Amino acid sequence: MDLGLKDKHVFLTGASGGIGLETAKLFLREGAKVSLHYNSNLSSLEPLLSEFPNRSIAVKADVRSEEEVSASIEQALKKFGPIQILVANHGIWVKETVPIIDMSLEQWETTLKIDLTGVFLYCREALRQAREFNVSELSIVIVGSTAGIFGEAGHSDYASAKSALMYGFLKSLKNEISRISKNGRANVVAPGWVLTPMAEEALEDKSIFSKVLQTIALKKVAKPFDVASAIVFLSSTKVAGHVSGEIFEVTGGMEGRVLYTRKEIEE
Ligand SMILES: NC(=O)c1ccc[n+]([C@@H]2O[C@H](COP(=O)([O-])OP(=O)(O)OC[C@H]3O[C@@H](n4cnc5c(N)ncnc54)[C@H](OP(=O)(O)O)[C@@H]3O)[C@@H](O)[C@H]2O)c1
Repeated sequence: MDLGLKDKHVFLTGASGGIGLETAKLFLREGAKVSLHYNSNLSSLEPLLSEFPNRSIAVKADVRSEEEVSASIEQALKKFGPIQILVANHGIWVKETVPIIDMSLEQWETTLKIDLTGVFLYCREALRQAREFNVSELSIVIVGSTAGIFGEAGHSDYASAKSALMYGFLKSLKNEISRISKNGRANVVAPGWVLTPMAEEALEDKSIFSKVLQTIALKKVAKPFDVASAIVFLSSTKVAGHVSGEIFEVTGGMEGRVLYTRKEIEE
């Protein structure tokens, strides 16, 4: 199926990570021009940059810096012109399980700054350039998480950032974007567990892995492709042009979480 993505300018944050890299490949294979955002890991982008030298560019920004975010957008606009698709995918998840009672203010603020404020900054830039260049079909896809739906004990910082994105922010954005860009849309893709560097270590722990599978109808975790293909579908005005404000779960039919092991119940 032609997704109508040929020559569209896609700005993809966190392109250097597991889900980002797979998403970048799909967009490039669909003929899009892709600005590949990274923070520290340029090397993971190098194969794509050499395979698609005319349709890809690497742009660096630590999303904690408003200036770096603006500069990365400027660089992308200079190379490929107005942005039609923004995928706000970057994020961190602190591997250690830290209950609220023990969480430092620093951890809380860092996660919110990267996962929530970083997405706000990129969405604001995308809207501003859409207004400036009269982009009529701006499409924004934000990567959320089931943590934002079910919560995640030991990761309240992450769960709170994702909930904020998926509900208050998304529902406001979808009503503002169509005033700025005539057919502008915003949606969220919410993965459950995905085999990427972010989750690999946790999933190597057999007790965590079996607890995870107990919540999933399909009894398996996602591969980056499962999430990337949902992102690409929602981003396309041609095939998803009447979808806005939706949370598209890619979870294998996940239902909440297992809270206690059998042993903990018997104690
Ligand atoms: N993996 C999962 O199980 C899972 C489940 C649900 C939702 N998600 C969500 O999916 C998205 C992608 O995650 P992933 O699994 O692909 O993670 P990942 O492989 O760890 O990639 C994370 C990406 O975020 C970027 N990033 C981190 N801190 C940054 C900062 N301060 N400034 C700018 N960029 C920064 C990283 O850039 P560098 O590497 O270049 O520093 C990298 O590109 C995230 O929003 C995550 O919350 C993942």
